[in-house]
Amino acid sequence: MKAGSKETRHQVKHPKASASKGLAFGPLVPVLSPLLNLNQPHPGVPLHTAAEERVIRPARNLFGSLRLPGDKSISHRYGMLAAFAEGTSRFTNFSTGADCASTLACMQALGARVSKKEDGTVEVTGVGGRVTAAAAPLDCGNSGSTMRMMSGLLAPQEGTFTLIGDASLSRRPMERIRKPLQAMGARLTLTDGHAPITIEGAPLMAIDFTTPVPSAQVKTCVLLAGLQTAGTTTVRESVRTRDHSELALRAFGARLTRSLNSVSIDGPQTLHAIDAFVPGDISSAAFFLCAAALFPGSALVLDSLGLNPTRATLLDVLTALGAHISVLNLEEKNAELIGTVQVSAPENGLGTTQISGALAAQLIDELPVLAAIAPYTRGGIRIRDARELRVKESDRIALVAQNLRAMGGEVEEFEDGLDVPGGQKLHGATIDSGSDHRIAMAFSIAALRAEGNTLIQGAESAAISFPEFFDLLDLVADR
Ligand code: S3P
Repeated sequence: MKAGSKETRHQVKHPKASASKGLAFGPLVPVLSPLLNLNQPHPGVPLHTAAEERVIRPARNLFGSLRLPGDKSISHRYGMLAAFAEGTSRFTNFSTGADCASTLACMQALGARVSKKEDGTVEVTGVGGRVTAAAAPLDCGNSGSTMRMMSGLLAPQEGTFTLIGDASLSRRPMERIRKPLQAMGARLTLTDGHAPITIEGAPLMAIDFTTPVPSAQVKTCVLLAGLQTAGTTTVRESVRTRDHSELALRAFGARLTRSLNSVSIDGPQTLHAIDAFVPGDISSAAFFLCAAALFPGSALVLDSLGLNPTRATLLDVLTALGAHISVLNLEEKNAELIGTVQVSAPENGLGTTQISGALAAQLIDELPVLAAIAPYTRGGIRIRDARELRVKESDRIALVAQNLRAMGGEVEEFEDGLDVPGGQKLHGATIDSGSDHRIAMAFSIAALRAEGNTLIQGAESAAISFPEFFDLLDLVADR
């Protein structure tokens, strides 16, 4: 058994301790990050900035049962819609990440009331469809979802709004939201195609828009503007991106029509508060699922995990690589699919796979960790059509290649992807996370099978989406 206090806090059960009953998992209680101090009047962006290094030691196995904090994408949407709706919403298992705290802080600055209850429930009282103009710029921190989705929400509102972000967010492309919003008649000024963004709110016109790159954030931005605009606004996409906004809008009482590759909303409509459970974050789970799949003999159970089909492609990829995945206890809450996932590794190691086309878009957040474990597969992993990775919180193609090489790995970098040969041995190294949460966590997983220790620089960035990551990794990694 691992450290007692953590054991109690997370109620993680070690399957070895209950071997006769198989993999046991109890009513696990996620821990809300102390960084998420929602009771301050304007919590601002709560991520601490002190750079932190973490040493990751190799592991022999992964064993355990966890319930992960709520999905980041769903929490953003529930938080934003609740803050805009009429009435008071309550969320259990809300994301503990700093990104979602940024969304809540911005919505608080726009007049919503947000508080965290003792039992961890996040309570949001909405502005009933009309925000108050914020005195100070709205700080979106590191969060592209906050900035892009909130722009759509604010463009039809009365008032002037300025949206700012940290250095990484200020480098990310915003032209993709300016174009459709401007086509709707919005007055939106970017700074060289980036944040800061200034919005002069005004009534808009409905449009029929096809997204040039698959992006759920852009889709949501247009839908949130359409929600408040007379007429029918339609968004078409060539690849169906995550559909949490469509499901959440319906849960809050909006009417939408959907076809295979389009969604339409008739505005204006009013949203009404809900009570909801946020499913565990499958993009956070990806680190643990990939880690478990690396070690024959490991067995990991993740319960109450979000399994929305637009997000769960990783399970298919791991299965194609030879991992054993079972899904149990499927249920639906607010139209989001939730279930328990058990994963174990194949005796002869993971095989090989290629990820391109629609798969690359649907797996975009999981590609760094897949690339980071690829050297340990038998046949390697080829990734293409993933150019978007270059404009995430960092240039994830360049940083994955750089860090694999630092660990002694062979990798070929392409404009839109990577070729990582299999059958490689990596050694511990110093990893430059580029202050990107997914790079820090992906290479913590690669480090588990490396020879020697690995030093993750900028480890604090994990708190952007998953503050509990290192603690939970210590709990389930057998050393
Ligand atoms: C997200 C959409 C994706 C994803 C991001 C979260 C969302 O970004 O990478 O982590 O919640 O809608 P894009 O919309 O830029 O593809």
